[in-house]
Amino acid sequence: MSFDVFNPVRIHFGNNATLTAGKIAKKYSNLAMIITGKTSMQKSGTLDRLVKILKDAGVNSIIYDKITPNPTIDEIDEAAGIAREKGAGLIIGLGGGSPLDSAKAIAVAAKGNIPVWDYLKTPAATALPVITIVSTSGTGSEVNRYSVMTNPKTKEKPGFGYECMYPKEAIIDPEIMTSMPPYVTAATGFDVFVHVLEAFTGKMRNAFSSAYCMQAFYLLKDNLIKAYNEPNNPEARGNMALASALAGLAIDLSGVGIIHALEHPVSGNYPNVAHGAGLAALTVESMKYNLEACKRDFMLIAHHLGVKRAGKSDDEYAYSLIEKIQEMLRAINLNIRLKDLGVEKDRLPRMAKEAFATMGFAAKNNPKDVDEKAALRLLELSY
Ligand SMILES: [Fe+2]
Repeated sequence: MSFDVFNPVRIHFGNNATLTAGKIAKKYSNLAMIITGKTSMQKSGTLDRLVKILKDAGVNSIIYDKITPNPTIDEIDEAAGIAREKGAGLIIGLGGGSPLDSAKAIAVAAKGNIPVWDYLKTPAATALPVITIVSTSGTGSEVNRYSVMTNPKTKEKPGFGYECMYPKEAIIDPEIMTSMPPYVTAATGFDVFVHVLEAFTGKMRNAFSSAYCMQAFYLLKDNLIKAYNEPNNPEARGNMALASALAGLAIDLSGVGIIHALEHPVSGNYPNVAHGAGLAALTVESMKYNLEACKRDFMLIAHHLGVKRAGKSDDEYAYSLIEKIQEMLRAINLNIRLKDLGVEKDRLPRMAKEAFATMGFAAKNNPKDVDEKAALRLLELSY
């Protein structure tokens, strides 16, 4: 057994933690660039509130609010150009996974002079400091170094992450998550589950990531469906926010697996597909594929999710996790197939190839070896 454990992100967790954003930002710069999406943070009033909190602390803001659900390299390069030109000394990501991922990529691109796509091959050593303020409980991006971006020309959607891309500080304020619509709660909440499933069972697992995962499974058990059914339940929101952060730390240490490797080509080719919805369509068949390699782990996860053993054999108990996940997907209205998401069947072979081209590191981390032929079969079974 050998592994490294490192995560330098300072986490501020709690209701109204956003109020501390001014004091935190001031440590880094007097001019912050806020990266966010086009609607939800404006509609909920969170963006205006943040600008005022920063202003009150003596920090001016530049707003870039054009980030789309599957952020493109064009958006990232444009924002990085503005940050450079205006001399922003701090990047604040505000919103869900897309603005947070983009904030990290923009922080790298603003420091350099090459298009962000080139950083897939050219390691980055420096970036502007980043603060994340997360509004959904799913991505985990608030506490890790990863960024996912889409190339609209090639439809590729790779993930990348260097040590300089860790946010300096993460603000996790469950209060601002109550504005999440049910579909977003379901999709991002299921993303949390897949993060911990893949980090817990992957080849790069270690004792630290497993500890994060176990606590996250325990929190998911009572809170995912509750947060979906009771959007204003503060306890459920708080616990899902916590589960998301734990899952984000777990994947930072131990990576993801074939479900994420297959999902990126789905939402890369179909940018209107939410990441969590793509995962939902792929999870059951991928779990069946991994079952033999993960029997003991699946039994342990089933136990953490409250599945009763009741005389089941090891095989039956391990399989009961898959049934539990199907039940969970039905309860949050995500019991879907790839065809329900508008995926065209003739694109599956191309997507199987892309899973290895852009997410090869995730496919490699899968508990059971998987090649392009097996990946295509999983896509077909999930169709
Ligand atoms: Fe994910």
